[in-house]
Amino acid sequence: MAEKKKILLSGIQPSGKLHIGNYFGALRQFVELQNSGTHDIYISVVNYHALTSVNSRETLVENTTNTIIDHLALGIKPENIFLQSDIPEVAELAWIFNTLITVPYLSRAVAYKEKIEKGLEATVGLFEYPVLMAADILIMDADTVPVGQDQKQHVEIACDLAEKFNSRYGETFTLPEEYILKDVAVVPGIDGQKMSKSYKNTIPLFASDAEIEKLVMSIVTDSGVSREAKLGDSMASYPNPLNLYAIHRLFRNDDELGPLYDKNQDNYKGLKEILIQDMSAFIAPFREKREKIEAGETPLLLIKKGRARAQKRAQAKIKDIRRAVGIDF
Ligand code: ADP
Ligand code: TRP
Repeated sequence: MAEKKKILLSGIQPSGKLHIGNYFGALRQFVELQNSGTHDIYISVVNYHALTSVNSRETLVENTTNTIIDHLALGIKPENIFLQSDIPEVAELAWIFNTLITVPYLSRAVAYKEKIEKGLEATVGLFEYPVLMAADILIMDADTVPVGQDQKQHVEIACDLAEKFNSRYGETFTLPEEYILKDVAVVPGIDGQKMSKSYKNTIPLFASDAEIEKLVMSIVTDSGVSREAKLGDSMASYPNPLNLYAIHRLFRNDDELGPLYDKNQDNYKGLKEILIQDMSAFIAPFREKREKIEAGETPLLLIKKGRARAQKRAQAKIKDIRRAVGIDF
């Protein structure tokens, strides 16, 4: 008999536009993982989580819809994606976990402290964020949870909660493991810092040709910082201008780019024009696919299967959980 596939669960915050750093740093590998067929995949668009930072109905609805469309356009299969709020059992499980986890333990979560330092209001929801995330993971009995380094601690919290629940109420939950994506180079933004939506230095993944042209033309080619200070080892062998090259090599291989950059040492504008062409050729098919999806069925209808699939799994699991704790009337 074929071996049962492992369950992979990931959560995506519906928080604005994706950029090429997200794609090359995470999403690309994620789509590859999906297509390799090694796991049963569940991707939750975590709109309950988003309430901890988005306070306007319009923004949340828009971001949620866009996030679904973006991921479909990138090749995530509609039957693999669902909305967290379509699984209210997650919020119920988070409450049960609240009665197991202690305040001092949860106070050690670093992401919470960082968010407070950045100026977010210290709501109970923000404090509770890792507990809700643990419920996302454990209600699906996930084996594998792909996350960035910053979310590793949250997966550990989910593991601790699973163990505590299992020892108090009997074996109920699978212990999840985090899956940290393979080392990927940090993509610099147009100002030379790490590309990030927080720094407003991004090139959107679905940018129009006009946007691409404007943004590439504004990539800094001389930041006044010495190569060593700026790059560490990872970019040490790149030709000048470094930022431009580091972005360009996402779209064309080093063998082709090396001679091109050597030949154009005094012609940064010419190099940028080539980058504009290469980037446009790469982005256009994604953008066109996105436009098609956007013009079609509402995204929530598209992911109907994904919702039904996730609900079925969560509804079965919550029965076991209720029985275990004694609220199964
Ligand atoms: P942002 O910094 O724009 O807020 P997120 O923290 O939402 O991005 O990151 C989502 C995913 O994209 C993470 O897995 C992260 O490691 C990856 N990522 C984000 N920015 C970059 C970048 N500049 N280079 C490589 N990967 C990135
Ligand atoms: N906390 C994750 C982030 O900020 C999002 C998330 C919510 C998640 N629930 C999850 C990730 C479950 C993996 C599994 O990126």
